[in-house]
Amino acid sequence: MTDARQGLTGLLDTEAIRKDFPILDRTVHDGKKIVYLDSAATSQKPRQVLDALNTYYERHNANVHRGVYTIAEEATALYEGARDKVAAFINAPSRDEVIFTKNASESLNLVANMLGWADEPYRVDRDTEIVTTEMEHHSNIVPWQLLSQRTGAKLKWFGITDDGRLDLSNIDEIITEKTKIVSFTLVSNILGTVNPVEQIIRRAQQVGALVCIDASQAAPHMVLDVQALQADFVAFTGHKMVGPTGIGVLWGRQELLEDLPPFLGGGEMIETVSMHSSTYAPAPHKFEAGTPPIAQAVGLGAAVDYLSAIGMENIHRHEQAITEYAVKRLLDVPGLRIIGPATAEDRGATISFTLGDIHPHDVGQVLDEMGICVRVGHHCARPVCLRYGIPATTRASFYLYSTPAEVDALVDGLEHVRNFFG
Ligand code: ALA
Repeated sequence: MTDARQGLTGLLDTEAIRKDFPILDRTVHDGKKIVYLDSAATSQKPRQVLDALNTYYERHNANVHRGVYTIAEEATALYEGARDKVAAFINAPSRDEVIFTKNASESLNLVANMLGWADEPYRVDRDTEIVTTEMEHHSNIVPWQLLSQRTGAKLKWFGITDDGRLDLSNIDEIITEKTKIVSFTLVSNILGTVNPVEQIIRRAQQVGALVCIDASQAAPHMVLDVQALQADFVAFTGHKMVGPTGIGVLWGRQELLEDLPPFLGGGEMIETVSMHSSTYAPAPHKFEAGTPPIAQAVGLGAAVDYLSAIGMENIHRHEQAITEYAVKRLLDVPGLRIIGPATAEDRGATISFTLGDIHPHDVGQVLDEMGICVRVGHHCARPVCLRYGIPATTRASFYLYSTPAEVDALVDGLEHVRNFFG
């Protein structure tokens, strides 16, 4: 135990929590227990979620919204029940505002395409502007580039300060009367920065622009209240919040979902179809063409139950304590530079860094030999690496099952990396 661990408060009972996550007992490389520090890429799954998936397939599997037989009705109830759980989890005013997608990327692409096909007053064209930021995941850059290329709308973005925060000094020039949509991340997946949502939304509302928030790195870690946020759209994914892969969420304000056109056409999303034209089902079904990810939604419902039982405030407090400890310890590693806020304030539990001139891929490989799982690369946020003139970072990210001992293991591992590369 290091001195820095003294006074750590607010930690969860990780001994009990870790018993729920079978994979955390996994060993690699001749019996080395894994130290999983890559929850920003995907979280591990508790037995409760794995059981929900299994039970669904073993007892209730059928297609939804179609069958009149018992197990089909059960499948529909489970799928729609998951929507209720997600709606409550994010404090949505209506369950009909929760659209199930494949992942957050699909949710963000859905917003871009709703606007891309929309008429006035939502129409995006060459006289309008789209605003995003330099710290976005590619999934919140590329859909807007595509929309800009298709419509001629101008794409603008907020830059990043040296210490890893959004540079909002020119907010009135970036968000103008021409802005149709402002789309930004609540928490950066590479820098860990928590962004000042209120300030951005206030300016967007002044000019009548819509606001879309990428909450992929927020929903798993903090209370996400879409009514308090006051955005128009909020996107996130299930697999980062102890749920399965293959399920994402787009929350949208009801009147927008009523007004905006669908993107994908097919079964499930229609009211009537003739060979000449079709009418559409109300939201959310209007945006859920085809057989949806049923088991995955059920798994996400179980994930929401699991997180809610522990409490999002408690999870957030735990992660803040671990992050504060990790920042403190990492800053003592010779040659280590944190890319992003080098403090524990206004940041999430994701810490990117460089270590002298050792390439992050080499850092990751040596850590792996010790069972330590970190992500290395540009983390699907290449503009951030370009901004700091670095090819890549090593990224450690923590979650409700992370422990101070795992932070110590990382720091010891980095010492080993430094010795290894002389
Ligand atoms: N978006 C995931 C990450 O940041 C994959 O690692």
